[in-house]
Amino acid sequence: MASESNQDRRGFLKNTGLLTGGALLSSLPFSTQAAKGYHFSVNDTIKVALIGCGGRGTGAAQQALNTKQNVKIVALADTFRDRLDSAYKALTERGLKAADGTPKVDIPEDHKFVGFDAYKQAMALADVVILATPPGFRPSHFEEAVRQGKQVFMEKPVATDAPGVRRVLAAAEEAKKKKLNVVVGLQRRYQPSYRDMIKRIHDGAIGDIVGGQVYWISGGVWQKPRQPNQTEMDYQMRNWYYFNWLCGDHINEQHVHNIDVANWVKNSYPVSCQGTGGRQVRTGKDYGEIFDHHIVDFVYADGTTINSQCRHYEGTYSRVDEMFLGTKGKIEGMEKKSSALMSYNGQPIYTHDAKADGNPYQIEHDELFEAIAKGQYKFSDAERVAKSTMTAIMGRMATYSGKTVKWDEALNSQIDLFPDKLAWDAMPKSLPDKDGFYPIAVPGKTTAV
Ligand SMILES: NC(=O)c1ccc[n+]([C@@H]2O[C@H](COP(=O)([O-])OP(=O)(O)OC[C@H]3O[C@@H](n4cnc5c(N)ncnc54)[C@H](O)[C@@H]3O)[C@@H](O)[C@H]2O)c1
Repeated sequence: MASESNQDRRGFLKNTGLLTGGALLSSLPFSTQAAKGYHFSVNDTIKVALIGCGGRGTGAAQQALNTKQNVKIVALADTFRDRLDSAYKALTERGLKAADGTPKVDIPEDHKFVGFDAYKQAMALADVVILATPPGFRPSHFEEAVRQGKQVFMEKPVATDAPGVRRVLAAAEEAKKKKLNVVVGLQRRYQPSYRDMIKRIHDGAIGDIVGGQVYWISGGVWQKPRQPNQTEMDYQMRNWYYFNWLCGDHINEQHVHNIDVANWVKNSYPVSCQGTGGRQVRTGKDYGEIFDHHIVDFVYADGTTINSQCRHYEGTYSRVDEMFLGTKGKIEGMEKKSSALMSYNGQPIYTHDAKADGNPYQIEHDELFEAIAKGQYKFSDAERVAKSTMTAIMGRMATYSGKTVKWDEALNSQIDLFPDKLAWDAMPKSLPDKDGFYPIAVPGKTTAV
């Protein structure tokens, strides 16, 4: 998470691109009172643009509005007008008002942007951007947010292929130079129980971590039927979950949460991995090109292996959790409300009391907006989430190819999944055959990196 460096308010605004030559102090989005940590006056508005108006984006915007700061949503961007409209409806139906009585969701028609370039215009109107599109767009949107000097909340994962990860790593460096706060929605990093337990693990409570398992085994997600006269681009965009240029497969889209916990506990990234995967249950042409299960051994530099399992099988045992084995003890379930570090003879070493714990989705925003309001630079999540995203993508490379994949070769992979052109009549790289089936990776034949 963060380098804890503070800077003076003027420097902060200058670095974040909010102060331009000759600008009147009264026209700044925050007051100097806010810089000193005082309560906001009615004029101290933090303007937010939401890029990607789906389920999570709408939720994240609500959480931004729920913070103690004077947050307003001022612009929306989406590739689909219907998604933008439903987010606008959800955000306005609470009728939230700022202290001066003005609406907290104040979005005139000319601040609603639709299309592949919509994000640029929406960002220009804001101090903070929420990036919640499918992850395939995250590298270009994050780059643009940093270029425009915006503070960022962005959802995980942050890319779907190695070229995308490298772009995010480069933009993360730039964000650090500009002292832009960047929070990424791997909310376990903001969940009090995880923070408490992992700090104790790092302090040695269960000795050195020598093994573990991380899981996202559950049912699947939505699917939207193909419409008559729908272009291939439109179909893939509506069904982004099933296409790797947009989603990266569910090992990346969902399981990155648990893989990131493994990296956090180990305080490093795996040096190699090998795995098994395929399509056992979800085999129809409606499910694009992704696998329905992946099992991967991630090997760390000290020789520790963390096993990862993710699958989408309806009607089966489910578990979304992590467990770790140390030389002196273990933790069997990080997700449990009262997770406990245990000795091998069954004695609790430490139990986390979760009674007063807040919602981690809200905490992410509370901490980000408080830092922004106080003029503090505290959060630089992008680099480590890019590396956890790379870990998940490396796992996919291993299950698709059936080969052992090393970190350096994975990170330097030139396999670029993104379409050559973004337009509704342009063709993505993965296309259906005459019967509507997409090419599926075949271990032993598919190229890994
Ligand atoms: N942290 C969490 O627990 C959590 C939970 C759910 C989703 N997510 C993440 O949030 C992101 C969005 O997921 P979701 O469930 O909200 O999906 P969604 O389909 O509901 O929303 C995505 C939205 O982005 C829009 N969009 C697509 N491409 C765009 C572009 N180029 N420019 C602007 N808008 C574009 C879509 O039209 C859609 O409205 C994903 O990265 C997902 O992994 C995180």
